This record gives sequence, structure tokens and C-alpha cells, in this order.
Amino acid sequence: MSRTSRNRLCRSLRGAAVLSAGGAFRAWGLALNRNQTAARRTVARAAPLRIATRADLMETSVQPARALRGSPTAPGDKSISHRAAILSSIAEGTAVIENFQNGADCRATLSCLRLLGVPWRWLEADTVEISGVGLAGLSEPPNVLDCRNSGTTMRMLAGLLAAQPFLSVLSGDASLRSRPMGRVIEPLRRMGADIRARDHNSLAPPVICGGSLVGIEYDMPVASAQVKSSLLLAGLYARGETTVREPSPSRDHTELMLQAMGADITSTNGVATIRRQQRGLKPLSLRVPGDISAAAFWLVAGAAHPEAQITLSSVGVNPRRTGILDALRAMGADIDIRNERLSGPEPVADIDVHSSTLTGTRIGGDMIPRLIDEIPLIALAASQAHGETVIQDAAELRVKESDRIRTTVRELRRLGVDITELPDGLSIKGPTRLRGGRVSSHGDHRLAMMLGVAALLARESTTISNSQAVSVSYPRFWEDLKALSGP
Ligand code: S3P
Repeated sequence: MSRTSRNRLCRSLRGAAVLSAGGAFRAWGLALNRNQTAARRTVARAAPLRIATRADLMETSVQPARALRGSPTAPGDKSISHRAAILSSIAEGTAVIENFQNGADCRATLSCLRLLGVPWRWLEADTVEISGVGLAGLSEPPNVLDCRNSGTTMRMLAGLLAAQPFLSVLSGDASLRSRPMGRVIEPLRRMGADIRARDHNSLAPPVICGGSLVGIEYDMPVASAQVKSSLLLAGLYARGETTVREPSPSRDHTELMLQAMGADITSTNGVATIRRQQRGLKPLSLRVPGDISAAAFWLVAGAAHPEAQITLSSVGVNPRRTGILDALRAMGADIDIRNERLSGPEPVADIDVHSSTLTGTRIGGDMIPRLIDEIPLIALAASQAHGETVIQDAAELRVKESDRIRTTVRELRRLGVDITELPDGLSIKGPTRLRGGRVSSHGDHRLAMMLGVAALLARESTTISNSQAVSVSYPRFWEDLKALSGP
């Protein structure tokens, strides 16, 4: 990269890091005795939360927090936002999606849809209007579709594009190009799709020569909402009936949204059946619930910090996503769920969390798909809990944006956590007083945010490298952390 373009990139990153402005971003220091029953607290020197930028990386230093109080607004749910964008694109008419998650992943989905000929525009910062082109209205993209870091974009679009009468190629960043795609390509090929990909059809970029498909019955080897959704999208177009059976039920946002839009779909206990769509899909305007996977960072911060009271409003509480609430409650967390209601087809509620004395627990089996994205965070909570926590049946974590079993172990160990890697999970013994220091996100958004929460609980300052990764799903994360912990 030339010096001028490096400087330009550096300047724009600095501009994006609102937090760097003159050290205005403050988190007050506190040294904590982690024995929660007899917490001896000494107020440490207040220091600014520092953001430094290099040409390609940003690092964030976070001071321990004296107290955590406030009501952060979780961004719109990432999974629901992807689905709202994709399904609205093939509906008959216009839908307005409020509280659309505007992180990099969902923006990647919107950019791909534009290349497929779908008109959409922002009405406000987080409200997008999508003019559906109907089931047969997509057009051949003039370029490779760049899914960036987003597995949901690539896998769901693969299913939709397998049924379109044109050629498309889906690609993404280095992380996405190393993640398994055979899990969608193989069943889509069984439906008659013409798809080729690297490494014996297992790695992106997939090249899709779309065409007519036939419905299949498919027993999924692993529970995956992305794979299920991909096959259901293909099933909308396939002759006959498509049935997908999961080993454990995963999130069902696609099924709920398709039902609300008039698709011929049934779904019970991990078995979903869809029939070819004869009539157009009705457009569905909705307000996307707050993302429980983002709210989870503040739930763990609130439960594990000895001086905390946090309220989260309008968070999605679809039972296929609330494993984190069950796990934290099983650990003794003081969590109240109030004011349950519906937002479109999805349940939402307000959630309060207070400082709690946590104890270890066991997590595995059917619970795993209900909290798959929250496991690094549960490992952090477990490090503050009395006794041992064992998480099993979670080998899927190895093929996320990073190998989250390995990266969680590596980074929490650096903070002093007694944590062991299992082939399909983690074992953690607590409580441990986190020591602070230098850690890395490995470019994984959920690792960056988990380490940000760990930093609030630590004895000394923690510097998280590659901290800009949060922009994938929670661009305001560092500002919200500041607001919760600042005086
Ligand atoms: C998602 C499903 C899960 C989850 C991911 C989002 C979705 O992945 O980890 O963050 O939106 O369908 P898998 O389908 O691979 O389990």
C-alpha cells in the first residue's frame, strides 16, 4: 500500500473512531477484590479509555469500571435483519424495516441485494425501505457478490441464487473463505443445483449456475439456522416439497418471517417443511427486535460486576435464542424479564440485570444452538463464578469467524483465567480476579466484545488489539461500554 493511501486509510479509521477524540472517552478505574461476598474495593486512578489507530488495526484500552449503570440500546438483531432484507427483496411490494442492524455483516447483505437488482434506500440511520422485485425479479449480478465476513449472507444467498436463472459468484474475506460451505452446497446440489466451489465444493467462493430445483428431505448433520434457511429459500422455488430436519432446533426467524409473508411452510420441533410458492410473498414491514446476542454482553457484565444495575429494552426473546438467559440464571444471575410483547412475528421484552453471586454450571446438548454465539461470553461469566463450568457439544465454535474454542482459551488465559480447551467445548474454574494486559480479538467481533467486558472486570488496564472488529455486528459497542462505565 502506498504511503499516501495508507495515511488516507489511517485518517478515515481515526475519523470512524469517535472514541479517540481528545481522551473524552473515560472509564473510571477500580481495583476489585473478586471475592464477591466480601468485596474490598479501592478506587484506582481514573484514566481515559484510549483508542489508537494504525493503518489496518485499531486498539482499545479499557480501564476497570467502578460501577456499571445504564440502559444501553442493543442494536437490531443481526439474524432477523439479514432475513428481513433477503425476504423483502423477493416480496411483491415495499417493506420498511426499522431498527435494521447497520453493522458490516447486514450491510454486506444489502450491497449484494443491490447487485441483484433490488432497489432499497435508507430512510433514516437504521430504517431501510426495500422494494421487493417478486420471486422471479432478481437479475444477474454484474460482479462477484462480496459477503465480507458474513456467513449468514453467503449461506442464505447460496440457497436463493441456486434457484435463479443466472450465474452468480459469492465471495468474502479470508475468514469467510476458510469456513465450511459444503454444508449448503452438498444439499443444494442434491436439489439439482449447479454449484462448484474450491476444495471439492467445500470452500468459498461458490460459483452458482442457478436453475430449476426439486424438493428433498434432508437430515442435517449439524444444527445450523444458516443451512436450514438456505434450503428453505431454495425450497420456495423447488418442485414439490422440501423438508429439513435438524438434530437440535436452531433459531427459527426464517420460518416465522416466511409464515407471516404467506409462504406455505410448517415448522415444529426442528422439522421444517416448505412447498413451492405459487403466489407472491406479501411484503412485511417490521421493527427488528434488539439483538439478544448483543444484549448478552451487558447481561454478563451486569451479573459479574459487583456494582451493577443495567436495563435493556426491547430485546428479542425468541425461545430459540434465549439460552444465554437460562445459562446465566442457572449460574445464579439476578435477571428479570418484563413486559413481554410481539414485534412483528417475534417476541420481545425488557430485561433487568443486577450484580449477582455466580456459581459454575454444565451446558451442552439441545441448549447449544440456543446460545451458540454467546459461549465465549459464558466462559467469561464462568471465570467469575464459584466452581467449575463445563461446556460441551459445541464443536461448531471451531468454524465460526475464528476458532472460538481456541481463541477464547488463548485470550482468557492471558487475563489469568483457569480455562481448558476440550475437543467440543471448554472447562473453566473460578472465580478468578482478572489481571488485565494485552489481548487480541483475532479479528472476531464477538471475541473483541467479550474481551471489552472482561476489561471492565479486570484489576488493571486491558488493551484489546484489532478492536474495530466490533463493527461487524455492534458498531456502537465501545461508546455503549463508555456510557455504562463512565462517571
Ligand atoms: C446465524 C446462525 C448461527 C449463528 C450465526 C447467525 C443465523 O450460525 O452462529 O451468528 O443468522 O442464521 P449457524 O447456522 O452456522 O449455526
